Amino acid sequence: MEDNNAQEEVSPLAGQSVGGWGLLQIAGCTGLAAYSVWAFILMPGFRRVPLKLQVPYMPASTKQVAHVMTLLKGRSGKMVDLGSGDGRIVLEAAKSGFSPAIGYELNPWLVRLSYFNAWRVSYHRRVSYRREDLWKVKLNDCQNISLFLAPSVLSLLETKLFSELPDGARVVAGRFPLPTWPPSTVVGEGVDRAWAYDIKAVRQVQSPKQHDTPV
Ligand SMILES: C[S@@+](CC[C@H](N)C(=O)[O-])C[C@H]1O[C@@H](n2cnc3c(N)ncnc32)[C@H](O)[C@@H]1O
Repeated sequence: MEDNNAQEEVSPLAGQSVGGWGLLQIAGCTGLAAYSVWAFILMPGFRRVPLKLQVPYMPASTKQVAHVMTLLKGRSGKMVDLGSGDGRIVLEAAKSGFSPAIGYELNPWLVRLSYFNAWRVSYHRRVSYRREDLWKVKLNDCQNISLFLAPSVLSLLETKLFSELPDGARVVAGRFPLPTWPPSTVVGEGVDRAWAYDIKAVRQVQSPKQHDTPV
């Protein structure tokens, strides 16, 4: 008896096609859901950053982190990761004695995750994760910089680094090299590769004119 009632309730829907309007609604809802995930989970805080400068989160591999640290070996002082993601490179730098070790990251979820990761190993007081736009941070006093960003923004970043960094600074780029700078050292292979650039050497071979586009 109950089965018959259930069948009667379901049967009006059975065999009905979704139709054009239905498809449009499904497409609209899917699009809205995808946009919400993008805007509120993956890229919150990026609304004021021009589209061409938006770089999504992708964590460095364990080997990539190790190569970045190899290229910073023997150095000390302030270390900054531009676009610090879940904070893994800054955490490793703090463990290697860099102080202050600072990450700039626009995504607030990643900033929280970074502190949580540091807290788990009792390093939360020795790292600093700041929710700031890396393009607006002044780097004049920074001796050690690491970055793992999309190739599309690296040319503009060269200009910023060239004009702001002190002569003794070293920049380490993970996965993608800086497009025109000559590297001092390269370690690793494929996606784990990292490049080191000594700003003094870069300034010796490049004229400021090559970097006169304003950021
Ligand atoms: C490819 S991930 C690298 C994460 C981390 N450095 C690592 O190596 O694991 C790039 C990170 O940069 C952040 N990012 C992109 N543009 C930024 C900006 N303008 N200011 C601050 N962070 C930014 C993204 O949110 C993302 O987490």
